[in-house]
Amino acid sequence: MRAEQSLAASKLRIEQALERFLPGGESPLFQAMRYAVLSGGKRFRPLLVLSSGACYGLRPKILLPFACALEFIHNYSLIHDDLPAMDDDDYRRGRPSCHKAFGEDIAILAGDGLLTLGFEILAGADVPAKLQARKEEAIRTVGWRAGVEGMIGGQALDISLRPQDITEAQVEDLILKKTGALITAAVEVGAILGGATRSEQRALTNYGQNIGLAFQIRDDILDSRSAKKKMTPERPDYAALVGLDMAKTKLEALIHEAVASLGRFSRKAEGLRLLAFSLLVMNHEAGHA
Ligand code: IPE
Ligand code: IPE
Ligand code: MG
Ligand code: MG
Repeated sequence: MRAEQSLAASKLRIEQALERFLPGGESPLFQAMRYAVLSGGKRFRPLLVLSSGACYGLRPKILLPFACALEFIHNYSLIHDDLPAMDDDDYRRGRPSCHKAFGEDIAILAGDGLLTLGFEILAGADVPAKLQARKEEAIRTVGWRAGVEGMIGGQALDISLRPQDITEAQVEDLILKKTGALITAAVEVGAILGGATRSEQRALTNYGQNIGLAFQIRDDILDSRSAKKKMTPERPDYAALVGLDMAKTKLEALIHEAVASLGRFSRKAEGLRLLAFSLLVMNHEAGHA
């Protein structure tokens, strides 16, 4: 199967698995969780888990719980990011954000619920006995990358640093945390479960950090073209800081560097290569093949 078709098939599998893992009841809380997740996300992070694990011949069945857990954690972060106390965004994925549809109280709890469910799924992931230690390492990595040293720390920087005072180095550090950390975790989880050597892990982490940075720079470039920008509070923004042309040049350089770090992985890394290249396509639907 060609890599494009394989990614499309993986996306379908991910959608089905997300549905299966979500609670199905009629309560507003469960509905809010389903509303937030099942609304057409690109599934970039779970695709990374599957594509990174594929470098080691790991099958989707083993990887899907990890992939879904990361998508749930990502969706919790989006629900909370949109709240009035954070970015105060009324829309997400082209429809009312979770708190607009269900109220702030339920939206906060739906985010909490998705984060907690993510770790429950990770802990319960069924792996062969010889992968048990790798599973523990993978869970620890997700916790660290999603936590205060990673994504949450990045969100804290995002709301506290003033755009007018920020330097390029600061904005890169911020992005590496708020967006790059979870993207890097997705790549690392596949590598850890696959038994990557230290130097392979370094190469894959480097790939993850480069596409993580690229992902947010691309998002900032796309945002600069939309009316939405004016409605959200002033936040540090790479494209606004360095200008659109420099931001695009940086984006291309990051993708080049990310793909270069996959040199040793031959054809098994085709999915990862394709996911990186998809970030050069500048429309809102892209970001996955
Ligand atoms: C949006 O993430 C928030 C950022 C970290 C830039 P995505 O662009 O992955 O959002 P979905 O999941 O595809 O909607
Ligand atoms: C969201 O970043 C990052 C996380 C939720 C961790 P942004 O605030 O820049 O992304 P959008 O524009 O709301 O998707
Ligand atoms: Mg934000
Ligand atoms: Mg936001």
